[in-house]
Amino acid sequence: MVSPATTERPWTRKDFLGIRGLERWELERLLDTAAAFKEVGTREIKKVPALRGRTLVNFFVEPSTRTRTSFELAAHRLSADVINISATQSSLTKGETLKDTARNLEALLADIIVLRHPSAGASQFLAERLQASVINAGDGAHEHPTQALLDVFTIREKLGRVEGLHVVILGDILFSRVARSNLHLLLALGARVTLCGPSTLVPREFEVLGCTVTHDLDAVLPEADVINLLRVQHERQRKEYFPSLAEYTVLFGLTKQRAARLKPGCLVMHPGPINRGVEIDSEVADGLQSVILEQVTNGLAARMAVLYLCAGAQGVR
Ligand code: CP
Repeated sequence: MVSPATTERPWTRKDFLGIRGLERWELERLLDTAAAFKEVGTREIKKVPALRGRTLVNFFVEPSTRTRTSFELAAHRLSADVINISATQSSLTKGETLKDTARNLEALLADIIVLRHPSAGASQFLAERLQASVINAGDGAHEHPTQALLDVFTIREKLGRVEGLHVVILGDILFSRVARSNLHLLLALGARVTLCGPSTLVPREFEVLGCTVTHDLDAVLPEADVINLLRVQHERQRKEYFPSLAEYTVLFGLTKQRAARLKPGCLVMHPGPINRGVEIDSEVADGLQSVILEQVTNGLAARMAVLYLCAGAQGVR
């Protein structure tokens, strides 16, 4: 039986809506619990009975490959029953509200609803109205908290610590929920964070959060312990923020020439989906410093930790 980290302080949150606002001990508990669950993935039978008898609904109103599959596998590894619903399969297309759809899922005795939605605050909205646990799998440009957990878990696993590291997050920060969740988590754990990209997509206003903003990638590259790349999120942009993708690559792409200037131990990360040849050169994406697929693998343990802790807190409050 896996024995996730235990301390005297009980976990009381039934929902996991964002990184911002969580206390440091909660963030560390999540990471430590994920570390305990990672061991399950090394067993011949990759399963524990922690959520036997519970039902999880994966409700994805936006496309997803990694997050949806990862939550499904994480739930299976915890022995939960899983149902997947996408926007096109649901009665949202017939005019039903998100709240009514979710309340119907709860009436079918769903214990956990994992929600991806294009609107910021959608998961918070449901969490305030449902007894079921609500887990944010990405809400608009607001937060993607399990992505940040798996990213920081990977950094901690590969480099042995988070505190004191210099993490550069590069790309479309303005529209990125991944950037926001990573920023909150990295700063909370004592990392130094630099946001880099075009001035239209990386406004100076982010500095009030406690990070540094730069538009000079070549200056910051050799100083990074970790570089986390983001794709340009055209689906959330309502105008053009730079002249062309080719110019973006020239100024902000992690090309082979730029990758050669990274520290030897610098981790190259990307939450996916990657756009090869745009924000990252194809060989760099598959290169020795890339931990992109290890991030995906670690997503399973991170999501098992979130499901385990939140399900355990149902009815606590
Ligand atoms: N990183 C991430 O959220 O990927 P998906 O959109 O495929 O879930």
